[in-house]
This record gives sequence, structure tokens and C-alpha cells, in this order.
Amino acid sequence: MTAALIDGKAIAASVRAETAIRAARLAAAGTVPGLAVVIVGDDPASRLYVRSKAQACEAAGLRSWVHAMPADTPLERLVAFVHELNGDPEVHGILVQLPLPGRLDARLVIEAIDPQKDVDGFHYQNVGALVVGDPAFYPCTPWGVMRMLEHEGVAIDGAHAVVVGRSTIVGKPMALMLLNAGATVTICHSHTRDLSAQTRQADILVAAAGRARIIGAGMVKAGATVIDVGINRLPDGKLVGDVDFEAVAPVAARITPVPGGVGPMTIAMLLANTIRSAERAAGFALAAGETRIA
Ligand code: GUN
Repeated sequence: MTAALIDGKAIAASVRAETAIRAARLAAAGTVPGLAVVIVGDDPASRLYVRSKAQACEAAGLRSWVHAMPADTPLERLVAFVHELNGDPEVHGILVQLPLPGRLDARLVIEAIDPQKDVDGFHYQNVGALVVGDPAFYPCTPWGVMRMLEHEGVAIDGAHAVVVGRSTIVGKPMALMLLNAGATVTICHSHTRDLSAQTRQADILVAAAGRARIIGAGMVKAGATVIDVGINRLPDGKLVGDVDFEAVAPVAARITPVPGGVGPMTIAMLLANTIRSAERAAGFALAAGETRIA
């Protein structure tokens, strides 16, 4: 068997096209959806991410503002600025690019964001609501993975899903979303004994450990769906995932490549969250199957 490739670029393009239609519908009703991105300091990778987020907004008919603040911005100033954005009716989504310079406590900044504008889904209120299964926003990367699984017609209910990685941004919310969709979920991490014994149980394997090629062929059940969230740069400059693609592809039924797999989904889902927020602000009816917190 050789796995079918899950084309993240194509799936993300279809999500973005859908988003552009929803943005046009909102604009016709007098609301231009807007995303405010705050970046503190001059980390080149973060600047690059922020630029691609702004470009993606523009391409889909959303307004975006990039607020660049110096690395020595005091916490109080940053929190006060987030409060200003909370009160701005033209801003439907607020994203504070992480990581923040070391001396700034990211948690305090995220908690300052209005949970109804928290398009990253990182605020405690949204994290807590995800446990119950009903947040205002799903975190973008795991939500993107769910959209990919749905697009590929992968059965989640009753499946055994194994998530490798327990980060707050990906691993933990990913596990909750799979659990809420009816999977039996195992979460593995750097202290897990006999990782292979766990991963070999997986019908759906999500690798989000941030370690190059830690998932090898002997670690995957024949016919599994393998989702690689990792993006690791090797010393020779090559980008690889957490999965050893060449070794695993002949065993799996479906697999995401790196690059071109999960990566493009994250920004697509960020746009979708911003549109969702603008639709709520404009009093649009919920999309089919959509739920919301108070
Ligand atoms: N830095 C890297 N990825 C992300 C993300 O998804 N959201 C934010 N806010 N910062 C990031």
C-alpha cells in the first residue's frame, strides 16, 4: 500500500474561497471583517508569519491591521492597547503573535483579549469551553486538522486517535477536539514509555511533537491516517515534519506532506474564525451545525 497524499494547500484554498464568499456577503451588509495583529519586537520568523496573515486577509476581502510595537514595550502598555482593540467595533479578531519577548508574560496578555475576539482560541474561557465542546473559537491548527479529516472522509467516531505532543497550542486542543468527535484518544509526549506501542494502536495518528522524523515506519499501523503538524528545519536547511515521510507513506492509507500539509490550514482557519466573529457581531444566523457560547 502507498498512502494517498492529503493536499493541505488545496483544502486550505477551498476554505479560503468559502471565507471570501462569506466576507463579500458581510461587506454587502455593511460589515467589513477585520483582524488586528499585534507583534512585539523584531523576530524575523514572527514578522514573516504576520505578513502572510495580513496578505491572506487582503486576498479574502478582510481588513487587517498589523500593530508593531518595540521589544521593550511595558506589559501595561500592551494590555492597555489590547483593551483598546477590544472596544473597537471594526476589529472582529485580535491576535497577539507569539512568542512575546521573554520578560512579557504571554498569559497576562492573552487574558486581556475579549474572548469573543480571541480568534486564536487561546483565552482561558475558550480553552475551558473547548473541554465542554462549545468554544467561541477553535484553535486554528487543530481545527485545520479536523477540517482535513472531514474533507478526506476519515471516520473519527469510534476510531483510536493518538496525538504525539501535549502543547497548549496544538496537542492538548487536538486531543479534546478528537475526543469531542467520538474518538478514543491517547496523548503521548516526551516522557511516554514505549512510544511505538502507543502509536501502533492509532487509526488516526497526529504528530505534533516538534521533533524531526520521530515517527518511523515501524511505529504506524497499516492503513492509518497520518497527520504531520511538525515543521522542523534540518542543519542542511531542509524542512521536514515529525514523521519520516518516505518510511511511513508505504504503510499508511493517507498522509500529509511537509510542507504543503497542515501548514496552509492554520492561516485559512484564522480567516474563518475572523469571519465567524464578524458574522456574530453583524447578527448573522449561525452556519449549519455551528454552536456558540453565551
Ligand atoms: N506563533 C506561531 N503560531 C502562532 C499562532 O497560531 N498564533 C499566535 N498568536 N502566535 C503564533
